[in-house]
Amino acid sequence: MRVITTIKEMQELILQQKSQGKTVGFVPTMGFLHEGHLTLLNRARQENDIVVLSIFVNPLQFGPKEDYAEYPRDFERDRALAESEMVDFLFYPSVEEMYPTDLSVRVTVQERTDVLCGSSRPGHFDGVATVITKFFNIIMPTRAYFGKKDAQQVAVIEGLISDFNIPVNLVAVDIVRENDGLAKSSRNVNLLPNERKEAPVLYQSLQVAAGAIDEGERDPNKLIHLIREEIGKESSGVIDYVQIYSYPQLKPLEKLEGTIIIALAVKFTKVRLIDNFITKID
Ligand code: PAF
Repeated sequence: MRVITTIKEMQELILQQKSQGKTVGFVPTMGFLHEGHLTLLNRARQENDIVVLSIFVNPLQFGPKEDYAEYPRDFERDRALAESEMVDFLFYPSVEEMYPTDLSVRVTVQERTDVLCGSSRPGHFDGVATVITKFFNIIMPTRAYFGKKDAQQVAVIEGLISDFNIPVNLVAVDIVRENDGLAKSSRNVNLLPNERKEAPVLYQSLQVAAGAIDEGERDPNKLIHLIREEIGKESSGVIDYVQIYSYPQLKPLEKLEGTIIIALAVKFTKVRLIDNFITKID
């Protein structure tokens, strides 16, 4: 595995590989790798000749009051994990390398951002879309892998790829969970011990909603109420949102039909966790 820190070298290596007809699988991350990321890498390894992992904590996607400084980082551990997943190139640029000057152009996401995390994190998805556009131009991947835990991110990037005609295939990979159901996340380490015990209620509440849908419930408001009640019973966390939309359009629904997402976010002392459930209603 080679660690690359400059854009120029990364682009040259990729162009070399592509000129030999090699396919490139790309897994963008902010590091502090967990099993969810490893699943993405594994899938990329199976489906491509070359695997590129990027580790870059992107300041553009953090709001002024968010956890950019506290975001967990451990490059040596990540490097060892990447090596064991048989990554070919680890792209690890500095902030100065990615943003040497103020950007004269930024990507602004027009749709799919006024709900869920977008409404509580203004500018977040513009930051994600901007860095992903840069990565797509640097790494020129055949396929790019994203976890479905960040379902709104997947929806936004689907829009970016389609609207800007970017020649990359987006592969959305299922959520990886701890044994107790908590969705794996780099941020889980920032839960206090009692909060870690309570946190599986996010998933449990989604399962209660899934059970109600199976039994015929089609009223989004009733499901939202059910989920809020379930979380309130078990957790000291403060609900940021529980919302239900069509997916991937993220439009409100009066009645559940088609493919839908139930998504929630709960704030704990030092960390805000998200989870979701996507299903197709017959
Ligand atoms: O999901 C993430 O970790 C980030 O939003 C991403 C896609 C790496 C862009 O910075």
